[in-house]
Amino acid sequence: MAKQFSVHIDGMKKRYGSRTVLSIDSLMLDAGVTYALIGSNGSGKTTLLRALAGTSKINEGRVGVVGPVERNDVRVGYMPQKAYVFGYTVEKNVEMAIASSGLSRQESHKRVQSALAAVGMEELALARGTTLSGGEAQRVALARILVSDLDVVLLDEPTASMDIAGTLKVEAALAEYRTRTGCLMLVATHAPAQAKRIADQAVMLHEGRVVEQGPVSDVLAHPTSEEGRSFLSYWQL
Ligand SMILES: Nc1ncnc2c1ncn2[C@@H]1O[C@H](COP(=O)(O)OP(=O)(O)OP(=O)(O)O)[C@@H](O)[C@H]1O
Ligand SMILES: [Mg+2]
Repeated sequence: MAKQFSVHIDGMKKRYGSRTVLSIDSLMLDAGVTYALIGSNGSGKTTLLRALAGTSKINEGRVGVVGPVERNDVRVGYMPQKAYVFGYTVEKNVEMAIASSGLSRQESHKRVQSALAAVGMEELALARGTTLSGGEAQRVALARILVSDLDVVLLDEPTASMDIAGTLKVEAALAEYRTRTGCLMLVATHAPAQAKRIADQAVMLHEGRVVEQGPVSDVLAHPTSEEGRSFLSYWQL
């Protein structure tokens, strides 16, 4: 059952040496909404996703959960920009994501097969992770997300190595997952068409700061900041 909650970022700063690469005063993200995280190379998208996933420590500020739910009960899934696949079979790679969930072998197998089918990897279920192409590895990493029960899903350019047919297939799977679980989904993307297809809201970063935020069609069509207008002038909508 979907939870009602918001993730609140407050005074977040991330520095490397003397350089501040992320500086977000305040940002509220709601469960049940898909956000496209956009911005140029180095604008801080991965840094933000990693901070939310807890794989990178922030220097200042906090990430809170607002709602009738304990922060520790919010299950977070993160797919890094460079998808990692273990040397086991594809099937086993996906099964590992739900190894400690207490599901029966049968139920677990059913879920894994269904996640593999959703990303078009059912025929390679027994292939070794090390033999996969870049796009196939991304599909397996996404299947690991789809097979899990998550409240917050953080995806870093999840289809960057995929062909268009694969991209549309996983976009449909992600939309289905969001609707079914009511999770909060935050997806970094460089493709404006993808942002429009998958997201309700857009958050644009520029040099680590949020410069645009709102319904995706508004942000893409009517950016209000100088940085937003400049960035979007390169995008073919
Ligand atoms: N470990 C690190 N040490 C020093 N600087 C870093 C480190 N990791 C990231 N940075 C810097 O932080 C800035 C933000 O990087 P980040 O990876 O978040 O950008 P991004 O928006 O995800 O870019 P891209 O679109 O290329 O994936 C960049 O300028 C990057 O060089
Ligand atoms: Mg990145």
